[in-house]
Amino acid sequence: MLATTTPAAPAADFPASNVPLLGYAVMDRDHVDSVALLQAACDAPDGQLQAPFAAFAKHLREHFARENALMTQHGFFALHCHKDEHARVLKMVATMEAELEEGDEARARLYVAEHFPDWFHTHLATMDRVTADFLAQAEG
Ligand SMILES: [Fe+2]
Ligand SMILES: [Fe+2]
Repeated sequence: MLATTTPAAPAADFPASNVPLLGYAVMDRDHVDSVALLQAACDAPDGQLQAPFAAFAKHLREHFARENALMTQHGFFALHCHKDEHARVLKMVATMEAELEEGDEARARLYVAEHFPDWFHTHLATMDRVTADFLAQAEG
């Protein structure tokens, strides 16, 4: 989901200390860390987004890989749907990393400030929430 009318303000609206916890420790840790790295990218001065965006992207790949592995290991019923969504996001992030290599940070800056926070909020409330509940039950 994209913000089209009101700019998002992750610093105020989605601080790492306010990430909704899903009750599955590995995922909760990754979500808090993702938002902290997102915040660092948002805070980067003009012309200095590449390094913090790379750190955010690296962690996102690791975070999604951990979720994919847990879903595979426990036979999550919506594995392919959730994995495909991760892959779609990582593809966009890789495109922005390439743009940053070229010195173009416009799209990546908009992504960390507006689009990712919107997407992440929805993803946690839907796919990740269902996944965390499933994993907790599978392991319980
Ligand atoms: Fe997640
Ligand atoms: Fe996820």
